Amino acid sequence: MTDWQWSEANSNMYRQFSHVVVPHRAEQIATLMSLFPFGVDETFRVVELASGEGYLAQAILTAFPNATLLALDIEATMRRDTAARIAGFGERGAVGAFDMAQPDWYPQIDGADVVVSSLCVHHLDRAGKRALFKAVADRLSPRGALLIADLIEPQRIEARKVFAAGWDAVTGAQAHAATGSDALFQMFVEKEWNFFAYPDPVDTPSPISHQLLWLSEAGFASVDVFWLQAGHAIYGGYKAAEGASTPIPYADALRIAQAVLV
Ligand SMILES: C[S@@+](CC[C@H](N)C(=O)[O-])C[C@H]1O[C@@H](n2cnc3c(N)ncnc32)[C@H](O)[C@@H]1O
Repeated sequence: MTDWQWSEANSNMYRQFSHVVVPHRAEQIATLMSLFPFGVDETFRVVELASGEGYLAQAILTAFPNATLLALDIEATMRRDTAARIAGFGERGAVGAFDMAQPDWYPQIDGADVVVSSLCVHHLDRAGKRALFKAVADRLSPRGALLIADLIEPQRIEARKVFAAGWDAVTGAQAHAATGSDALFQMFVEKEWNFFAYPDPVDTPSPISHQLLWLSEAGFASVDVFWLQAGHAIYGGYKAAEGASTPIPYADALRIAQAVLV
């Protein structure tokens, strides 16, 4: 585990440009939701780890009208953001505090059906990720899944350069599309946010091949990587071979994600 902790300053910076620095954010949210092993009308329980501004939580509660969701985050202002975004869902949504690097919150995922997390697992080191995967595998319901969107560590210098260039390119394009200017892209560069161009000891992503192995070792029956762009991957594991009989159609999930992100 690492000694470094996310701060309110990190949250404030992330809020300013998250809509342009996260590659294809609506696509990522739609992909995560489309991978749920539960149908649109099923009743199931989701726990989101590090919910941040709450967009994914809002999209999930919109897309799955019988689902309940517990959103956890370490940072008070992020919990406030998430709470505001999901307030309209009443008792279906709840928000709580946790530190992903500590084991004391694990009981909150006892019996959960889906555990989902975007852009936080890379703050755990190898041992921390392995502990997390095992804790989730041990506690999920029999049909459950752990689905993660996160940075991954390239294993070769060529891949690091491709990831860095790809992230610059998508951030520049998204900044222009959103604002008509490159100011947010300049901020991304000045703040050295591109981990692949500016490695930082507080970010400890692991190679995707290692993480798939750790997921298998933790007890997930099927593990895979489902999406990968600019060094950002969506990957995870399922407890059972059985899937959703009527999963949400990807086009519906994307429409919901786009509406939430406006
Ligand atoms: C880059 S933001 C991602 C937020 C959101 N999941 C998203 O994809 O936009 C990282 C989030 O992780 C939270 N975080 C960072 N370190 C954490 C830790 N050790 N335990 C719990 N949450 C943490 C931060 O407060 C922040 O909300």
